[in-house]
Amino acid sequence: MNKQVNKQGSKYRFFDLQPKTTDFHTEIIRGLGSTPRFIPPKFFYDERGSQLFAGICKTEEYYPTRTELAIIRENIDDIALQLGSGCLLVEPGSGESSKVRELLDVLQPVAYLPMDISSNFLQQEAQKLAAEFPWLDVHAVCTDFTTSMTLPYTEEGKQRIAFFPGSTIGNFEPDEAETFLRDIACMVGADGGLLIGVDLVKNSEILNAAYNDATGITAAFNLNLLRRINRELGANFDLDQFTHKAFFNRQKSRIEMHLVSQVAQQVSIADCCFEFAAGETIHTENSHKYTIEDFQDMARRAGFEPVKVWTDAEELFSLQFFSVNK
Ligand code: AVI
Repeated sequence: MNKQVNKQGSKYRFFDLQPKTTDFHTEIIRGLGSTPRFIPPKFFYDERGSQLFAGICKTEEYYPTRTELAIIRENIDDIALQLGSGCLLVEPGSGESSKVRELLDVLQPVAYLPMDISSNFLQQEAQKLAAEFPWLDVHAVCTDFTTSMTLPYTEEGKQRIAFFPGSTIGNFEPDEAETFLRDIACMVGADGGLLIGVDLVKNSEILNAAYNDATGITAAFNLNLLRRINRELGANFDLDQFTHKAFFNRQKSRIEMHLVSQVAQQVSIADCCFEFAAGETIHTENSHKYTIEDFQDMARRAGFEPVKVWTDAEELFSLQFFSVNK
């Protein structure tokens, strides 16, 4: 654990609860050996993957980021009113911590805990944030928040609020999403809260465009998974022989992302060999889209009570605030 106190007296700490490489190896071999083949989307986020995702968020077609940001900005006073001030603010999957910057001055949290799986990226971003907000204590936690919600730092008597923007909840299967919400309810405790971004069901054209941007950055993000497996696990994927595919599956209310093998080919990862047929896919991500009512029902089952919902005028995206059910 590193500890650093900056000039103004605020603290920056880094807690390394990172999963071991063997987890990556085991999960990749298991996913690629399954029928249909899959890779869990959490593995997108190595350093390059995190940078590519930051690039996706700036594309014309990917509306969630700018829409959520606009919702926060337009409703900042009401958000501050609903959440109060002086909480311990926890952000699982914090990435660039961009949206939380909008909240810090109004919420004045006693401490901010960004959690991310990408260690270098997390440390860089958390240190940048600590320098920008010298009054704020920042405790960066490198962890796989999908498997562990352990808080290595807490403050007695302070309300805990989880901030989970970006509709990352959509990347969980609905039953996993409910379990994850239950874990958050448990982590924030009896008078805790959850401020969460949830992407809404809408017409297919907008959704399909958002995951097939013209600059090809989403394709690069998807293919980067194979690059990462080559680098970290000694595999020999030929990136030119796989292509990106993303489409809205209305029946399942989700965007599906796949990598399609362009030819019949063999790929080896250390001593494992995988045979791909031409056209066979690796399912790399689901991004579920909810109605406000369906999401609130799920949150209720997980132990939360809806407090307030903010949306944009076109109802593309929602920001929802919940308190823990007493
Ligand atoms: C992180 N997550 C909410 C993004 C999404 O929209 O499901 C990941 C993403 N995949 C492709 N584009 C963005």
